[in-house]
Amino acid sequence: MRHKIVAGNWKMNKSLEEAKALASEIVRLVADVNNKAKVVLCVPYPYLLPVKELLSDNKKIQVAAQNCSEHESGAYTGEVSAAMLKSMDVPYVILGHSERRQYFGEDGKLLAKKIDKALEHHLSPIFCCGEPLEIREKGTHEALVKRQIEESLFHLSGEILEDRVIIAYEPVWAIGTGKTATSQQAQDMHAVIRKHIVKKYSQSVADNISILYGGSVGAANAKELFASPDVDGGLVGGASLKSKDFTEIIKAIA
Ligand code: PGA
Repeated sequence: MRHKIVAGNWKMNKSLEEAKALASEIVRLVADVNNKAKVVLCVPYPYLLPVKELLSDNKKIQVAAQNCSEHESGAYTGEVSAAMLKSMDVPYVILGHSERRQYFGEDGKLLAKKIDKALEHHLSPIFCCGEPLEIREKGTHEALVKRQIEESLFHLSGEILEDRVIIAYEPVWAIGTGKTATSQQAQDMHAVIRKHIVKKYSQSVADNISILYGGSVGAANAKELFASPDVDGGLVGGASLKSKDFTEIIKAIA
């Protein structure tokens, strides 16, 4: 179902003490935010339980993992399975982040398997797509993003897609660079994604799926980005590590 969502992707940052302090501070600040936005903290694996414990029965804030294995279980040293995450009551998992694609060679086919594993274990994937700079400059960004979505999501039923999957459009050139997409660029791509979903599924599936924007979202630009009709919130990296900035971004949801 379509929701307003602000997810903070902490990536590989913070000690345990720092992570707990940041989460506590976010809990405190978000208590005063009066909108319906769901808040998701995408924390490193070892911090999932401590942060979850801190959130206890917080209605607004939940945790997410940043990745999971495509395998069910077994001899995969260093990997974490969707079943393990589910056994810890983790509701969401980021899949297909551009850093995973770039540094760990994850491609659309592998991501389709990870999506299936996550769904099989009742996790909601936050599926990331987005083009690198050279593709944007060549003008083939829409085709690439459509292909990323086809490869990893279009084997799902419309029902599963609209109920369980969140899409995050993150142009690679905007991630961690301070160079955000304009609200028009974000809106245009979100509309392209929604139209592509209409073509494959239906208008109602497209209308029901949440599509987040990510890439240098900050306290200063969030309001404008989130005002676009097809932008349902954000996946926030750097600014999610600062409790005040992150809270300002959550407040920017109308
Ligand atoms: P950024 O990262 O906000 O630091 O650009 C976004 C992301 O990688 O999800």
